[in-house]
Amino acid sequence: MTEHPMTTLPAWAALETHAASLRDVHLRDLFAGDPDRFARFSFSLGPLLADYSKNRVTAETMGLLMELARARDVEGGRAAMFAGAHINGTENRAVLHVALRNRADRSMMVDGSDVMPEVRETRERLKVFADAVRCGALTGATGKPLRHIVNIGIGGSHLGPMFVAEALKDHQQADLTVAFVSNPDRAQIDDVLANLDPAATLFIVASKTFTTAETMFNAQAARLWLVDKLGEAAVGKHFAAISTNLEAAARFGISKDNVFPMWDWVGGRYSVWSAIGLAVMIACGPDVFDQFLAGAEAMDRHFETASLDQNLPVILAMIGIWHADFLGGPAIAILPYDHRLRLLPFHLQQLDMESNGKSVMTDGAPVAGDTGPIVFGGGGSDSQHSFYQLLHQGPRHIPCDFIGALKGHDGAGPSRDLLLANMFAQSEALMVGRKEQDLDATAPELRPHRSFSGNRSSTTLLLEELTPYALGMLMALYEHKVFVQGLVWGVNSFDQWGVELGKELAKSLQPALTGEALKGRDSSTSGLIAAYLKAKAGGP
Ligand code: F6P
Repeated sequence: MTEHPMTTLPAWAALETHAASLRDVHLRDLFAGDPDRFARFSFSLGPLLADYSKNRVTAETMGLLMELARARDVEGGRAAMFAGAHINGTENRAVLHVALRNRADRSMMVDGSDVMPEVRETRERLKVFADAVRCGALTGATGKPLRHIVNIGIGGSHLGPMFVAEALKDHQQADLTVAFVSNPDRAQIDDVLANLDPAATLFIVASKTFTTAETMFNAQAARLWLVDKLGEAAVGKHFAAISTNLEAAARFGISKDNVFPMWDWVGGRYSVWSAIGLAVMIACGPDVFDQFLAGAEAMDRHFETASLDQNLPVILAMIGIWHADFLGGPAIAILPYDHRLRLLPFHLQQLDMESNGKSVMTDGAPVAGDTGPIVFGGGGSDSQHSFYQLLHQGPRHIPCDFIGALKGHDGAGPSRDLLLANMFAQSEALMVGRKEQDLDATAPELRPHRSFSGNRSSTTLLLEELTPYALGMLMALYEHKVFVQGLVWGVNSFDQWGVELGKELAKSLQPALTGEALKGRDSSTSGLIAAYLKAKAGGP
């Protein structure tokens, strides 16, 4: 058997020993023993404050984790990404979403060519297009200004732009509406279309490949609706597309001027910075979008240049590895305490789980420890009244990320007081817990039910304000965190072969759902299809 490159490292063994020695150490005591713990384990970067002091780590833990990061050549992997190397080996592609937010006068090379001229040209075209829609100069087939924007996409062509549009809603131009359609269930698109004036509607078909079944289905549904209302000739004026597959977009009938390119070195879950962000750019304006890119660019510079132990994405990544591989934390909860950030868990679910939900390393050998965590979450306030019970008293230790803004929709008003008091209290409760001995006034038989073990890790990310810049920083922070974890685990964070089998099987099953004979499938699949066909034929 080949030795695993990670678990045989001295730093790995040292972390295992260290984890055993920390098993009985309570976070409460770590705070009590070190009045400077917050200062020691928090990090300010521009408008972002990261408090990681409520994680079960000590200075020794952080030192050993950094040793592991160095031994896994995180520095080399980071440099390779920025240099445009083909680090997505299974697809033989570079990974250069950082070029999309490179606003500096800097070349970014892929296969010997600088991609920046094309990136800048596309950015400029997007800006002109978005401005023309916003000021009403770009009209539909009847001459009406386009006022309703409908993004049709799925996965990264949906979750990223939908999250950002919602997060930046306070910057949205008042006379524009933006909707996002991803589900091939007609219920979604029918609900959206019901409120739209076709003469004022612009559909954006966002699909890197332009072959994704759900997106193509919805794009056709939108096209049929539009043609029914305004005629075939209207398609060119009411559709735009973003894709690497420019021919397929042209075949769909979208005018060349309305088709914006993306590149194979941009992964779907890293694509909101590209033309995939067009709906956001139209809704909020090119200047806001530029600020969003600027925030991500600032995080890129930090990630690229800071030493590992002073590098926020690296610090958070290594704490995640500590939980996943040494403390037995199978999941991470993403808990935004800001209504505008409530869709963040969905975006991060794809970012993290599609990137690092892998069992083999880049050379095909099995991974030894645990890789990407199960990512779940929801708006913090709502989730407090739903699944927090398990976070506080369930037997599993689930590290949490609390995310909030010091100023929000109503500035630093009373709603912030309530939100942030709760957010701070939840991380405190998870950390401190409540001992049975402290429940004197409680009936003895109830004490086990009302006590909390505490010692549960969390990180708090505080934005000064939910600005486009801070949002860009936050999203890029998570991207780099996931990348660093992939480097340490030795997996390719940029492919997603695990989504393919289901797609292939769905394609091969579809004829059976329209009545063709089904051969060679298991009895469960056949039985389920038979039930569907019976219902379709009007059976009970
Ligand atoms: O099926 C997964 C996936 O390939 C994601 O990685 C991607 O974001 C999504 O589908 C949508 O793909 P496309 O933009 O090509 O339609």
